[in-house]
Amino acid sequence: MNLHIIKHPLVAHKLTLMREADCSTGKFRTLTKELSRLMAYEATRDFETEHCDINGWCGHINGERIKGKTLTVVPILRAGLGMLDGVLDLIPTAKISVVGLQRDEETLQPVSYFEKLVDKMDERPALILDPMLATGGSMVATIDLLKAKGCRNIKALVLVAAPEGVQTVHQAHPDVPVFTAALDSHLNENGYIIPGLGDAGDKIFGTK
Ligand code: URA
Repeated sequence: MNLHIIKHPLVAHKLTLMREADCSTGKFRTLTKELSRLMAYEATRDFETEHCDINGWCGHINGERIKGKTLTVVPILRAGLGMLDGVLDLIPTAKISVVGLQRDEETLQPVSYFEKLVDKMDERPALILDPMLATGGSMVATIDLLKAKGCRNIKALVLVAAPEGVQTVHQAHPDVPVFTAALDSHLNENGYIIPGLGDAGDKIFGTK
């Protein structure tokens, strides 16, 4: 499995705070951001760097910088937006590509109703953001969409994953690593991750 469960005391602590039933909208939103920032640090660990010459205070010195085109982050509407600021704290130059999906009532498959992608997707690494990897349908559809634009270096960043979702993504796109703070038990009959976080979109946006 191309699955990375991020083990870090801060990640575990913050996720536990988010799981509390009485976690307020403000607290949930802040924790989503903090957790996303920590996780993005881990998910970008293997980014390639190259040497460069820079003008230092004492003359020319060797530096190191990230190689290639700037990353694009891809929040999936709407809950993925909650993770965006945390990632941008870490990578302020990242380009943002937004994807919105809805279920086709006939096929029951997720179809895109909104996509605004940045240019040169075939040259950029992409980091997809969605707090909950439940059935995996939206994640697979987003990866399909990015690959259709030529994107080849794709990672998925989620806060909580269900085994069912991980399996679905892995079967469709074994090359795409999934980074998560937790791999939970299962999906319930309504498609919620157990124990999960509840409806992450509602909690981030304060809707019910
Ligand atoms: N989406 C959510 O917000 N929560 C789940 O548990 C599953 C999908």
